[in-house]
Amino acid sequence: MKKILVLPGDGIGPEIVAEAIKILNYFKAEKDLEIALEQGLIGGASYDAHGAPLTDATLEQAKAADAVLLGAVGGVKWEALPIAVRPEKGLLGLRAGMGLFANLRPAILYRQLADASSLKPEVVAGLDIMIVRELTGGIYFGQPRGVRQLDNGERQGFNTLVYSESEIRRIGRVAFEIASKRNGRVCSIDKANVLECTELWREVMIDLAKEYPKIELSHMYVDNAAMQLVRAPKQFDVMVTTNMFGDILSDEAAMLTGSIGMLPSASLNEKGQGMYEPIHGSAPDIAGQGVANPLATILSVAMMLRYSLDQASMAARIESAVGKVLDQDLRTADIMSKGMKQVGTAEMGDAVLAALQ
Ligand code: IPM
Ligand code: MG
Repeated sequence: MKKILVLPGDGIGPEIVAEAIKILNYFKAEKDLEIALEQGLIGGASYDAHGAPLTDATLEQAKAADAVLLGAVGGVKWEALPIAVRPEKGLLGLRAGMGLFANLRPAILYRQLADASSLKPEVVAGLDIMIVRELTGGIYFGQPRGVRQLDNGERQGFNTLVYSESEIRRIGRVAFEIASKRNGRVCSIDKANVLECTELWREVMIDLAKEYPKIELSHMYVDNAAMQLVRAPKQFDVMVTTNMFGDILSDEAAMLTGSIGMLPSASLNEKGQGMYEPIHGSAPDIAGQGVANPLATILSVAMMLRYSLDQASMAARIESAVGKVLDQDLRTADIMSKGMKQVGTAEMGDAVLAALQ
């Protein structure tokens, strides 16, 4: 029996997670999957109930689970809170507490959605990039950090970019392993011309590459990578990078596909436990209206089946069901285009379910 902790979170989180649970329950009812679902609070929802965006009890529950399915966190309601108790801190606490150092963010263009991209169809057709983002280190967690008072009376903000060799090596390994199951190319993104920390990053990647003679390793400065992503994105297979650069580049890559509402993600630790969530946020502007796109969350369930529950064939079934639903011309508002049939969150979830059967 595998335990899955479900943390719907804020905004559209509960609506989209409800659709993903339909899919999990379908496999459970088919008796193919032995799972037990538990529910918990995270982000603003947890802050409202307990005064903290992630409680110790929820973190313990997450650590004891085989996988966590998360909706989204954050919203205007909590924006004025101090950073330490903001909804986003709940997410960061879960990443750090579970040791989820490897964040996999695929950017795939569904051929049915080629028109939705802001780039020309020929630039993005067939796009399939995997961004491997380091998630528990770097400037997000580096010490010292804060805002201090200078002698001259003004305040100074500071954060620290730090990576140890072992942290670089372990995320590099994830990228090389994934590339060996894809097209065999890893592009490591750094700013080695300016930042010593990422000069070390590059050195370690070069050293690690010796263990993977079949993989072609290249390097790119982050500013160039940002440009290449919009100029010729299909040159990339696997991109591996730091926490902060990965945060930025993965949003950029997601948008190349036209819809951030389609993209799932996985965050993994050394034990194979994972947290799975859509890449998009909590979209407070459309929360509660039943119009959000549940496909990224449903595809996150597919990643969960593949990476934490050892059910690659179920994962593939979900992915092909999503393809079928798009072929039926069903679209939520975010991916709507002329001649298509617009549906709401629940209708989209039901359509995927029907396509599975
Ligand atoms: C992401 C988000 C988070 C991050 C925020 C919500 C803390 O932007 O998952 O990319 O910066 O990592
Ligand atoms: Mg981000």
